[in-house]
Amino acid sequence: MGAASAGTQELADHGRCSHPRKLLGCSLFALFTLTLVYFIFYSPPPSFISYADLFVQLKTHEATKNSSPPPPQAWLQCDYSNGKWVWDDSITGPRYDSENCDMKSTVKCVVNGKPDKGYLHWRWQPAACNFSALNPAEFLRLVRGKQLAFVGDSTARNQAEALVCFLSTVARPDTVHRYEERLGRKFWRWVFPAPHSVNISTYWSPLLVRAEGPSEDYAMTQQTVILDALTEPWTADLGSMDIMMISAGHWFPRSAMYYEDGEVVGVYSRPDVNKTDIGYLGVYRKVIRRTLEYVNAKSSSAGDKLVVVATIAPAHFDSKYSWNHRDACSRTKPFEEAEAEVATTDAEMRKVILEEVETAAAAAVGTQRPGVRFEVLDVTKMATMRPDGHPGPYLFAHSYDWRPVPETVGNDCLHWCAPGLVDTFNDILMKMIVTGGS
Ligand SMILES: *[C@@H]1O[C@H](CO)[C@@H](O)[C@H](O)[C@H]1NC(C)=O
Ligand SMILES: *[C@@H]1O[C@H](CO)[C@@H](O)[C@H](O)[C@H]1NC(C)=O
Ligand SMILES: *[C@@H]1O[C@H](CO)[C@@H](O)[C@H](O)[C@H]1NC(C)=O
Repeated sequence: MGAASAGTQELADHGRCSHPRKLLGCSLFALFTLTLVYFIFYSPPPSFISYADLFVQLKTHEATKNSSPPPPQAWLQCDYSNGKWVWDDSITGPRYDSENCDMKSTVKCVVNGKPDKGYLHWRWQPAACNFSALNPAEFLRLVRGKQLAFVGDSTARNQAEALVCFLSTVARPDTVHRYEERLGRKFWRWVFPAPHSVNISTYWSPLLVRAEGPSEDYAMTQQTVILDALTEPWTADLGSMDIMMISAGHWFPRSAMYYEDGEVVGVYSRPDVNKTDIGYLGVYRKVIRRTLEYVNAKSSSAGDKLVVVATIAPAHFDSKYSWNHRDACSRTKPFEEAEAEVATTDAEMRKVILEEVETAAAAAVGTQRPGVRFEVLDVTKMATMRPDGHPGPYLFAHSYDWRPVPETVGNDCLHWCAPGLVDTFNDILMKMIVTGGS
């Protein structure tokens, strides 16, 4: 319980998360606290016992599915990143049952008793085209024999687990690698056996490059980031990845000391050391560029590869409250268009991804390597509009079934409930796979 009391101390020290500029930092801090919550409340995920229930869920989903998706050509023209969330009465329930699914318990909002269920009923409507949910059987058919890898921070894992859960409604995966480390879930692989032969893996690499500090061990306080050292195990497995989904960003706007060529090249938010503060944005760009250059260079002989990079999906710690107030993210509706806009810091990080992916794509063509295709999963706008999509204080099974939520509580206003809008990210990912033939 030493960790828990340290956490309480930090909790007290971070009462000033209410300032909007501090939101990213605070959401990260919330991550650490969540880890403590995780230590205290985590129990091993239930085994796959109730598949009958999952099939019932699937039938519900099939029955409510929209008309057939537009042809791939139409989709290529579609700017899905701009649009709005519309209430959809035809959605009758969750896409899948997270209870019987191998997923971090803190995002199982239905199981955890989040009282608002409205977040399940919003459908993303792109401004200029139509868009439908993925069909899990169809998805498994499309990616038969392929290895999908989700590389990055816990948002990558959030998305991977949602996908695995949804696919579990039609086929049962085996978990073949599972390192139950102190923080849990740093590298997992789910194998959908033949006839699918599909692997889905998550690689914990929140800064993509090597780092020493809380990103590797929450007990440490100072983050050291080695800008020129991409990390195993994802680099080691790169050759076998057919589809690589990179999602990393939330760990960058955090105080750190940066090294390159063995020298300190700067710091971010470290007034305690006499080194130049170089900010995190240039560092983010450098790391993304290095990652994509590496992927490009190593993909020459490896056959077709689809590399998708997600833009930042912002957290929603309401600036009216401290991060640990029970109402830090208690909204039950998406924002209206006029109510919110993408924050400057998020817009800057998004721009880095758009530009670097474009550069990587151009380089891939320039080197006559059409085998690797780069895409952006541009979720910043759609995520910005969804303050209602987070677990909030509902972080463990039946969190507050019999008692009121205390005013001061651990909150997750960063990750997404699953099922929830994170499934839309996977719907878009599927469209990219369909249109590329990867
Ligand atoms: C989208 O679907 C609606 C309703 O089915 C239809 O009226 C509209 O023309 C479609 N729009 C596009 C761009 O296909
Ligand atoms: C999936 O993982 C298993 C076990 O790690 C491995 O034997 C198999 O070759 C992998 N399949 C694909 C399609 O990558
Ligand atoms: C900080 O570093 C600079 C350059 O190395 C040095 O000139 C300066 O004296 C240092 N300041 C302090 C307070 O140590």
